[in-house]
Amino acid sequence: MTHVTTFYKAKGGVASTLSAIYYACALARVHGPDQVILLDADKGTRSVDKYITRRVKNHGFEVDMPFLVEEWNPNKGPLATFAVEVLKRIGPVKHLIIDMGADPSYAINAAILADTIIMPIKPWETDYETIDDLMSGLAENEGAKKYVLLTIVDRPRQGEAATARADITKKYEAKYGVTVLQTEVKKQAKYRSYHKNGDVPDELWAYEGVYAEINGGHMLDGTPFNLEMDLNPRG
Ligand SMILES: Nc1ncnc2c1ncn2[C@@H]1O[C@H](COP(=O)(O)OP(=O)(O)OP(=O)(O)O)[C@@H](O)[C@H]1O
Ligand SMILES: [Mg+2]
Repeated sequence: MTHVTTFYKAKGGVASTLSAIYYACALARVHGPDQVILLDADKGTRSVDKYITRRVKNHGFEVDMPFLVEEWNPNKGPLATFAVEVLKRIGPVKHLIIDMGADPSYAINAAILADTIIMPIKPWETDYETIDDLMSGLAENEGAKKYVLLTIVDRPRQGEAATARADITKKYEAKYGVTVLQTEVKKQAKYRSYHKNGDVPDELWAYEGVYAEINGGHMLDGTPFNLEMDLNPRG
């Protein structure tokens, strides 16, 4: 069975595409490059192919991206049908990751397909008040594991991230079964130059943390996920 993970958001610019890419990198390191498909369902100015035309220089990858990429848009028919066709064509890979746009009429379809839903949220713009919108309509998918990933957490804003974390937990944990991941994606200056020089931020470690939290507590090198260590990472 292919495990479907949807990156699901109500608003653009929350680092969802980069998160989907790095999470796919993390999964591909464990399962192999032919076992992970990243389905770009939000093709636009900052879609997956804009990032993957750059080579991944770090972390031992020598290829453009160490996983398979497919593109969906509404002209290709219903998303679920397309996803099934892709899996028929390529074979039953271990992981399908969907980077979904903010348009709720499409996004809900990707969320309903998902075993795991990751909602990247910038904590300081009270984006988390969008969680009610994101979750309404998901009643049919009670079985999905639902996570909030706090992204682009600036050092001066760590306090706000802590407030957001507490608030989201209080408002949504019981209501929708949403868990806020302990791993936070830090704000990284390097991301700004990403298009220009193709660097992969060292921050890929953060997605190892996401991987560890979602997939049983071990980092990619097999060491147990240790919150204190991982929240004060290398460098
Ligand atoms: N951790 C980060 N620190 C700083 N900038 C970041 C970080 N993550 C992403 N960015 C920047 O934020 C912008 C949006 O990132 P990304 O394309 O991943 O987000 P998105 O939610 O998919 O946006 P879109 O609405 O365009 O689909 C990009 O310019 C990217 O370089
Ligand atoms: Mg995007």
